[in-house]
Amino acid sequence: MLKIVNIVGARPNFMKIAPIVREMRRRENDFQPLIVHTGQHYDQAMSDSFFNDLGIPKPDFHLEVGSASHAVQTAKIMTAFEPVVLEEKPDWVLVVGDVNSTIACALVCAKLGIKVAHVEAGLRSRDRTMPEEINRLLTDQISDLLLTTSQDADENLKDEGITHDKIRFVGNVMIDSLFYSLKLAESSTVREDLNLNKKDYAVLTLHRPSNVDEKQTFSGLLEALCKISEKLPVIFPAHPRTLSRIAEFGFTERIESSNIKLIEPLGYLDFMRLYSGAKLVLTDSGGLQEETTALSIPCLTLRENTERPITIEMGTNVLVGTNSEKIKQTAFEVLARKADSKDKKIPPLWDGRTAERICDILFEMK
Ligand code: UD1
Repeated sequence: MLKIVNIVGARPNFMKIAPIVREMRRRENDFQPLIVHTGQHYDQAMSDSFFNDLGIPKPDFHLEVGSASHAVQTAKIMTAFEPVVLEEKPDWVLVVGDVNSTIACALVCAKLGIKVAHVEAGLRSRDRTMPEEINRLLTDQISDLLLTTSQDADENLKDEGITHDKIRFVGNVMIDSLFYSLKLAESSTVREDLNLNKKDYAVLTLHRPSNVDEKQTFSGLLEALCKISEKLPVIFPAHPRTLSRIAEFGFTERIESSNIKLIEPLGYLDFMRLYSGAKLVLTDSGGLQEETTALSIPCLTLRENTERPITIEMGTNVLVGTNSEKIKQTAFEVLARKADSKDKKIPPLWDGRTAERICDILFEMK
């Protein structure tokens, strides 16, 4: 029996851990999965609703660290997590993604000699001003098993001196959650509630500090987004960080007088129903670049770089940066184009069975 401690902390972790824990529970004779929630995200809309939508069991441990500066948050997670691993003595600790909870828990284990598996290893934006890039680089260096979503990630890891026996290309576990939940999401009434017709609106998400913490950058983005909203409504479920910047920078009126509709963050199923019916998605999120690729929905990424180049090479993603003119021009080109979804490919092993492969590998390594 393998005892595995699964770590979640922030919103983008929940859809990655859900299929893994489900698969471990299905193999009840081989796996004893525990869940630790660090509490990095704690609002109903940023955390609890995801547990409900994704059917994740209640965490066995809740560290309740909350928001703080990077150093304080990371340190608080480490301090609170150490006694848990010392008490539980797991065979593996499994961390996902690139948030502060990922590096904090991996670092605790590396110092205690407890094996760490990193799901979604090897992604690189090569932009070290992103907190996530630092988290990715460091987590990969100290993990014992690196589970990758695409083969470019394997190459990145080898280039950084990680030996090939630690690297396993398993596919994208977030797409397991997506395929599992598509039917369930049909029961969401979000489109009806917002009075939207399928393929007749755009969806926007923005939360990267580099986009929303700088008034000038955010203002330039807003200029382009207001123009795009003259062609079709833009639905904007906003992250708490973004909502507070909008108020602080005095952007509320500009948004209200446009055809951008600002709404509270949505749960997993409501958000899936929303973006899966959109004509266009505009985002600075990592996960949404992958979800739109899996569903062949055109996506413009409002960043200068991406750690997920496969979504551009094979999928529907276009990296447009933050220049207002370029965003408008590309959005209008994409909107004028006829749907060409059949030309788009889904990357290898984004097939809904990644959690099975992860469990097989953990079991093999017993
Ligand atoms: C974190 C991740 C980021 C991920 C994002 C998704 C890191 C370094 N960043 O960024 O990779 O894309 O989550 O959401 O781990 N807040 C709330 N309620 C919450 C959580 C946050 O109001 O439940 C507010 C707080 O004011 C907080 C701010 O949002 O200070 C930022 O939260 P934090 O967890 O520090 O980082 P994110 O920007 O959410």
